[in-house]
Amino acid sequence: MASQRTLCIIKPDAVEKRVQGHIVQRLLDEGFKVVALRQTHLSRGQAEGFYAVHRERPFFDELCTFMTRGPVVVVALERDNAVQHYRDVIGATDPAKAAAGTVRKLYGSNVGENAVHGSDSEENGLKECGYFSLATTCSEPNTSAQWRVVGPRTARKTKQRSWKQRAGVCAMPWAACATCRSCCRACA
Ligand code: CMP
Repeated sequence: MASQRTLCIIKPDAVEKRVQGHIVQRLLDEGFKVVALRQTHLSRGQAEGFYAVHRERPFFDELCTFMTRGPVVVVALERDNAVQHYRDVIGATDPAKAAAGTVRKLYGSNVGENAVHGSDSEENGLKECGYFSLATTCSEPNTSAQWRVVGPRTARKTKQRSWKQRAGVCAMPWAACATCRSCCRACA
């Protein structure tokens, strides 16, 4: 199974309970690589934009009020089969129905305050990481390079190595990289 990325949001209820460290450690123990992580306090507009797909649902207003109640931690995760594995680790949306040992069973309170958000598909995982400007590029170290990213225009002038080879890290969009598998040796 190819490497995938997915987004975790540690929601305000979990941050209030001060369990964000436990959740990140659990994800690391499950084999996820944390490719980016940031604490942020969502504005109403950000919350409404993120959950726009639920705009017509009766719980939309309550969900956005909750998500803006305090800080969240947004985490871009990577591993093979990341989307499904993450969903298995967090458990059912409603903590009361989640399996024992899952993150939502351990730390969630109810279907609204359920500790973490999870992406429901690989496509949405990438989109949702992008929504928070998290890990939008490949970022694997390019072992053939000693230079920092210079960009395609500069590299074209030298005609010695491609700009990708000269980059200190791969700067290809992750989605393109995952599709073509040719952006650098590390992620090929
Ligand atoms: P999440 O994974 O963030 O995706 C959408 C969220 O909507 C979901 O987790 C829940 O927190 C929330 N949600 C889903 N169903 C309900 C509900 N019936 N009442 C309140 N919130 C809900």
